[in-house]
Amino acid sequence: MKYNNDTILKLFESALLQFQTPEEPKLLYDPIVYSMSGGGKRLRPVLLLLTVDAFGGDVEEALPAGMAVEVFHNFTLLHDDIMDNASMRRGMPSVYAKWGGNVALLSGDTMLIIAYKYLARVPSTQLHRILNIFSDMATEVCEGQQYDMDFESVDMVFAEDYIKMIEYKTSALLSGSAMIGATLAGASEDDIRKMYRFATELGLAFQLQDDMLDSYGDEKLGKKIGGDILEGKQTYLMVQAMSRASEEEREVLRTTHRRTDISDDEKIAIVKALYDKFDVRHSTEQQIKIRFERALAVLDTLSIAGERTSQLEEFARNLMGRKK
Ligand code: IPE
Ligand code: IPE
Ligand code: MG
Ligand code: MG
Ligand code: MG
Repeated sequence: MKYNNDTILKLFESALLQFQTPEEPKLLYDPIVYSMSGGGKRLRPVLLLLTVDAFGGDVEEALPAGMAVEVFHNFTLLHDDIMDNASMRRGMPSVYAKWGGNVALLSGDTMLIIAYKYLARVPSTQLHRILNIFSDMATEVCEGQQYDMDFESVDMVFAEDYIKMIEYKTSALLSGSAMIGATLAGASEDDIRKMYRFATELGLAFQLQDDMLDSYGDEKLGKKIGGDILEGKQTYLMVQAMSRASEEEREVLRTTHRRTDISDDEKIAIVKALYDKFDVRHSTEQQIKIRFERALAVLDTLSIAGERTSQLEEFARNLMGRKK
């Protein structure tokens, strides 16, 4: 092991400094630079590179693959903010709010292409496999995003379906990053599968926590608190509240975001009062804990020595302590 969480993040950030686009057309490239330099946590490349290191691979050689997953992630955010009508991202106006939907769409498309350009720099003996993992993962993210949209017009979503949706829209990119890292490092099929399971469970915990922070976090999150409520999103909080509410309360949960006679803050307060009544924050925290512990348990089953997984464990713990 040559790196820890801090040094691998530093290494990736310095590689990111070399990220460049052509100057023109400005309205295509400025949003890309704005997004890439906007202070994301870099979770996916860090996970990819930590995995490479844990399995004894060449971390520097894996940097382009790390760039690919980070550029892809930022592309999903550009489109996600259009789809979620979100005006804030990382404490700043979203690309959608700053430049409009058309710009966010085309700059996002270009980022997807840039991600593949980085991927093309993977050693040729592994390129075919990595391309398949990447493309499968990218397709799953789109499937998850469509389920997320579909659920906006479904009256009541079961917890099981909700978990499947977030496994696609959020876990897929983390598990894909972990699998790419393990593959690049030449890990066994069994270990690659286990890294997939580790990152899948961790991704579920991460998205559940994202849902919770969206309603109960503070301005450090850098997104509008209550945004999910105002968009009528199905979140774990909503799924739990609906399953416990009376028919009348369900109607309130379903329709408050569409009311035109009250302010946004009032809408958020009404829905959160019901969340509090059913203590859905607590049940979400329990679910986060279960997923987190399942993720950690997988690490113990890897074929590599225990000290080699310590940075992956640290990564998971940092993730669970996040406020942004
Ligand atoms: C945001 O991901 C999208 C979700 C899956 C919740 P991150 O919270 O990793 O975004 P940044 O890149 O750190 O801003
Ligand atoms: C994140 O879902 C999934 C993707 C961006 C693919 P969210 O819509 O909850 O993410 P945030 O809260 O906008 O970051
Ligand atoms: Mg969103
Ligand atoms: Mg979304
Ligand atoms: Mg969210």
